[in-house]
Amino acid sequence: MNTLETTMNTTSAFPAETQAKAPAARRVLVWDAPVRVFHWLAVLCFAGAWLTAESERWRMLHVTLGYTLAGLVAFRLVWGLVGTRHARFANFVRGPQAVFTHLRDMVQGRSDHHAGHNPAGALAIVALLGAALAVTFSGWALFDGPGGDWLENVHEGAANAMLALVGLHLAGVAMASWLGREKLVAAMFSGRKDVAPAEGIRSAWRSVAALMVIAVAGFWVWQWQHAPAPLDTAAATTAAAYGDDD
Ligand code: HEM
Ligand code: HEM
Repeated sequence: MNTLETTMNTTSAFPAETQAKAPAARRVLVWDAPVRVFHWLAVLCFAGAWLTAESERWRMLHVTLGYTLAGLVAFRLVWGLVGTRHARFANFVRGPQAVFTHLRDMVQGRSDHHAGHNPAGALAIVALLGAALAVTFSGWALFDGPGGDWLENVHEGAANAMLALVGLHLAGVAMASWLGREKLVAAMFSGRKDVAPAEGIRSAWRSVAALMVIAVAGFWVWQWQHAPAPLDTAAATTAAAYGDDD
């Protein structure tokens, strides 16, 4: 299916030859394609929703990106139960003791190597997924539900809390990359890390990732085609009133 699988298959077929050529840790597939597609689409949706939050003119885009994020998170929750090894919550979510030990080690400049997420990163991930649900649910209640000032405050508060978590997440990723001398961001693109081959996953599940991309693109086209006309009129009126001709 891909080069890595070929490499991994080669590993099991010719162990002696592989051992002679390669060191113990090498580029091994740990993040499947659905996890990577989920992550970078989530980044795009969050950033896009944030940038379009204040403008009436971009409201449909804001809402569309927000609902896309909700769909992505729903998918990730299911994939966390049935997905590949390092994508499963059961394999990376740890209790408070493990999180504390990891943070203490980090503060002391020590880093233990994890093929998947480390315990503190895992906590941030769970919090980010929860925050994304809170932001999108409050957004729905505001836009398609009862609405009201208080919901506006809840939505904005949830979005701000999520922004703070993203900041912590980025700081954690930077710190773990530095302490562990690892390129964690590159790994979220390539799916590969320098770990023992036994830590790897066998399939990238590209077909599932392709279905995700098709579903998201389909939703965006559908939203585009069903965007209410009054929005255009309102935008045109606002643009005309401010002499904005772009
Ligand atoms: C450009 C900004 C970002 C970068 C560079 C980045 C980088 C990363 C990296 C390197 C990991 C893997 C961490 C590890 O090895 O344990 C990760 C995981 C994750 N990040 Fe981000 N991140 C960014 C923004 C975000 C945002 C905005 C969100 C939330 C919407 C987010 C949510 C997550 C989640 C949920 C995971 C877990 C992935 C999974 O297992 O499915 N990240 N991120
Ligand atoms: C990634 C997810 C989302 C983020 C980060 C986000 C963020 C925000 C923020 C920060 C505001 C406040 C803007 C201001 O200062 O007035 C806002 C407003 C708003 N959001 Fe979201 N939002 C998200 C998803 C959604 C969704 C899914 C919906 C609806 C389905 C939605 C509907 C709205 C509406 C209607 C407002 C305008 C409130 C007002 O009248 O001021 N948002 N959003």
